[in-house]
Amino acid sequence: MRYRELYNGVKIPMLGFGVYQIPKYEDAKQAVLAALKTGYRLIDTAQGYMNEEAVGVAIKESGIPREEIFITTKLWIQDFSYDGAIKAANLSMERLGIEYIDLLLLHQPMGDYINAWKGLEKLYKDGKLKAIGMANCYPHVLVDLCETFEIKPMINQVEMHPFFQQQLNIDTMKEYDVVPEAWAPFNEGLHDFFNNPILTEIGKKYGKSAAQVALRWNIQRGVVVIPKTVHVDRMKQNIDVFDFTLSDEDMAQIKLLDIGHSEIVNHFDPQWIKSLHTWRC
Ligand SMILES: NC(=O)c1ccc[n+]([C@@H]2O[C@H](COP(=O)([O-])OP(=O)(O)OC[C@H]3O[C@@H](n4cnc5c(N)ncnc54)[C@H](OP(=O)(O)O)[C@@H]3O)[C@@H](O)[C@H]2O)c1
Repeated sequence: MRYRELYNGVKIPMLGFGVYQIPKYEDAKQAVLAALKTGYRLIDTAQGYMNEEAVGVAIKESGIPREEIFITTKLWIQDFSYDGAIKAANLSMERLGIEYIDLLLLHQPMGDYINAWKGLEKLYKDGKLKAIGMANCYPHVLVDLCETFEIKPMINQVEMHPFFQQQLNIDTMKEYDVVPEAWAPFNEGLHDFFNNPILTEIGKKYGKSAAQVALRWNIQRGVVVIPKTVHVDRMKQNIDVFDFTLSDEDMAQIKLLDIGHSEIVNHFDPQWIKSLHTWRC
């Protein structure tokens, strides 16, 4: 496994395992156990995924020392206040059965995220959180909060894949020493992702699938990836991306796939924002 160093010295695996949309306890537990057995050492969950307990039990049952596993979780908007964030972070630790969280993210830059961030800063200073970050920040939002917060985010987790490349966001993160992390590195399968002719053709040269090419492309851009699957053969496939290198020509071809917007969520749709505010977990 390759690692990337955050600006505070914490090392994050370049490839992890996402557990969104595995809400059933046993399914989530088995998926995480299988992922750990396959070699994944970063698990990405969230209070909103309703599976922190299952993740925690799988980690314990795996027998792998706690310090070898990088655990990310996220807080939802409902808890965005100073006290609310501290309480929610403690609840996550309780559900996960752990004494500290490797990376805690605020799931959306919405609501009172300024005071929630102050709560995270307090827990970070106390050593309960090894790293803190944001999710879903577009570049203008990221600049604003980096100029506002006492402690800058170490990570910005955003949607990033060949159809939505977010190069300006990556450039902005670089300016502030924030590490980019890609959610939905496969566009959740949309746009006939796994049969894309360009990704498939490039993959043929290296004996790799479209999925592996997409992960490798992000990793070569310095982006941490957290693909999700409940299938063991795909877990093995998705982690097997460290034995080939895409050429400059491959990278240039993939660049042409960018459509410049998300097909999964629309953060510019007022009704979508309203629905995120009313959702509870
Ligand atoms: N911060 C945020 O707001 C946010 C939002 C969304 C996601 N995330 C995080 O990012 C992680 C990944 O994103 P995601 O789960 O939304 O989508 P994704 O990883 O882009 O795609 C997952 C889909 O791809 C399929 N798949 C996985 N590997 C495959 C392969 N090698 N070949 C063919 N199909 C494959 C999976 O099916 P099977 O499971 O059936 O194999 C699943 O349907 C999440 O699990 C979560 O941890 C964060």
